[in-house]
Amino acid sequence: MLKGRDVVSIRDIAKSDIELLLRRAEEMEAGLVAGTPPDSLRGKIVSTVFFEPSTRTKMCFQAAVKRLGGQILNLTSVQASSMKKGESLSDTLRIIDGYSDMVIIRHALDGSARYAADICAHPVINAGDGGNQHPTQTLLDLYAIRRMKGRIDGLDVFLVGDLKHARTMKSLLYGLALFKARVTLVSPQGLEMNPKVVEEVRGKFKAEVAESGALDLKQADVAYVCRVQKERFADPYEAELAQKKFMVTTESLKGAKGDLVLLHPLPKVDEIAPEIDGTKHAKYFEQARLGVPMRMALMAEVLGV
Ligand code: NCD
Repeated sequence: MLKGRDVVSIRDIAKSDIELLLRRAEEMEAGLVAGTPPDSLRGKIVSTVFFEPSTRTKMCFQAAVKRLGGQILNLTSVQASSMKKGESLSDTLRIIDGYSDMVIIRHALDGSARYAADICAHPVINAGDGGNQHPTQTLLDLYAIRRMKGRIDGLDVFLVGDLKHARTMKSLLYGLALFKARVTLVSPQGLEMNPKVVEEVRGKFKAEVAESGALDLKQADVAYVCRVQKERFADPYEAELAQKKFMVTTESLKGAKGDLVLLHPLPKVDEIAPEIDGTKHAKYFEQARLGVPMRMALMAEVLGV
């Protein structure tokens, strides 16, 4: 049951609830296509509070609220708020909580969403906390994979890029393990996934997780690529060096399966060559669009409407 709950980590959601969300997202998508989405959020106010840059996650949530007939309150920036005058984050959150039925937060600090959830009486949804978690991205990723491949279990999914800093990858590894995909982690040296996260999914789900330093996608059913998370490096020069190491080009797709699906949470910088966008493998723009029905499903469940 998701009613009234915070969604801070993908671990907060039971598999049965994710399955329910996958089904409800399908219904929402059908409603959108028919031009008749339910007005489940009529009379509700959802606040988007983003302290880090965002295009997709913020606008996708806002689109999802509006499609369901709800209203948005948006904190545009720290600069434009009373935080500029020295107001604390906790006071700011308390006030926003008092104006809203749900708070969607993104912040650069790991653990910030849990902190917000402790302060707010209304449900808090984590839209990304530092390098830690991004649960709603994982929900839409699972939805996209299932919709594009017909299943998740038994698929060979390659996670490629800066696995050390990308919150999308930590959340997704957990989600994929829960749904019994086989995962191969591919990262430049020094940007490997935190071994504790890998141990966790191996221990909890008996997940098959391989690790590799080479970009060989021949076995992959799905390759999920992310950018080097430059803003989380102590030394920007290191980030630039890492950025040059992995780029998916038409060359990297030679020998790949004909139905390989290439996903990316976006924004992409230069880890996917521009000519890939026009190939049948590139599904990341469609993936981003599928965030709307999934976030509609999630908000409708959490608000219990
Ligand atoms: C990601 C994020 O913010 O973690 N973007 C997104 O939400 N779609 C990925 C990234 O910034 O690289």
